[in-house]
Amino acid sequence: MSIPPDALLDAADTHGTPLYVYDASELDAALARVRAAFGDARVYYAMKANPNLTLLRRLHGAGVGFECVSAGEIARAEHIGARGTQLLVNGPAKSDAEYAAGARLGATFIVDREEEVRLLPPSSRALVRVNPALAVSTHDHLATGAAGSKFGVTLDQAPLVLDALRVAGHTAVGLHVHIGSAIRDAGDFTAAFGRLIELRDVTGPLAVLDAGGGWGLEADLAGIALEAQRAAHAFGAELWVEPGRYLVARAGHLLTRVVGTKRTGRNFVLVDAGMTELLRPMLYGAVHPVMALWDASERSRWDIAGPACESGDVLARDVDLPRPERGQVLAFGDAGAYGAAMSSSYLTRSRPAELLWQDGDWSVIRRRETPLDVWAAEE
Ligand code: LLP
Repeated sequence: MSIPPDALLDAADTHGTPLYVYDASELDAALARVRAAFGDARVYYAMKANPNLTLLRRLHGAGVGFECVSAGEIARAEHIGARGTQLLVNGPAKSDAEYAAGARLGATFIVDREEEVRLLPPSSRALVRVNPALAVSTHDHLATGAAGSKFGVTLDQAPLVLDALRVAGHTAVGLHVHIGSAIRDAGDFTAAFGRLIELRDVTGPLAVLDAGGGWGLEADLAGIALEAQRAAHAFGAELWVEPGRYLVARAGHLLTRVVGTKRTGRNFVLVDAGMTELLRPMLYGAVHPVMALWDASERSRWDIAGPACESGDVLARDVDLPRPERGQVLAFGDAGAYGAAMSSSYLTRSRPAELLWQDGDWSVIRRRETPLDVWAAEE
């Protein structure tokens, strides 16, 4: 991370904790890495990873489009001025409002089941999502291309759905595949794209192959890119990709303050962030790197637990830390994706503020909620 520790501590002092902070230079660097690996592929950011408007505007300004999966995400894209070929509307269970908003903005739809051919607005542009029926190297909740998953059509159905789209007067631009998220092994992508290539003889050439996202932060990006390009080439297609995590995870840290400690057989350090701010450890057993922003000669291993009255509210286990004291600040890394985005107001907790670090300075890109914000929609 290129944000100096002093600046992190200043941010925590000035804006309070829990606090999400993002490093603008790492956001730009991640996009540059994607472009270096994938060449001229069209990039659609899966905004579910982090839909903050400031980040969306920055990506939009850099020529990135958006993959949207809800009326709210489509509204965010519209709000920042994205239109037409810059938009994908995806999801396994789209509402009438989502079809209408997508059509109004000229988005491309990702068709997830045969029935959708009849639900699409007239003369839509559409891709067909294929489920390659493969096990992949990630948490079960993050696998979307396994047999029995709710996503996409089968390999057998895909050419039929492409034909049905054409017969119904839509423009069937190609195929889409997204096998899951935080995938560690690049070989999983090779296998998935390989299954798609088998369809080539039946489908003939296609205009677009959308290879989805899902790249784990440690995965071999160049290897994945090469295989995606090979698959696109097999169809004579233009390559599209939909990274979420890869574009924003590394840029983000969650700052949290030590509230106190307790030793009850295990060593607990209690902090002011928990499952409501960073759900991933509880939901997926995700491990986020932890950085202590203080020094102490005595070190030992600690479980880091949040303030919620839920026993699963533990952010990390067995972390080697310098002796913690109330008021000191910890930074959870790789938190730019699915961190703030999945934070909740459970327990009437106010969602954290978000700051952007750019050119040696902080700007607030989302203010901290107040309890009033949390109950604003209630009678
Ligand atoms: N495209 C489609 C169709 C997707 O469903 C997703 C993510 C992406 C692209 C972006 O995937 P990424 O590059 O971010 O892996 N909440 C979970 C992640 C769920 C991802 C859902 N779909 C987490 O915290 O890990």
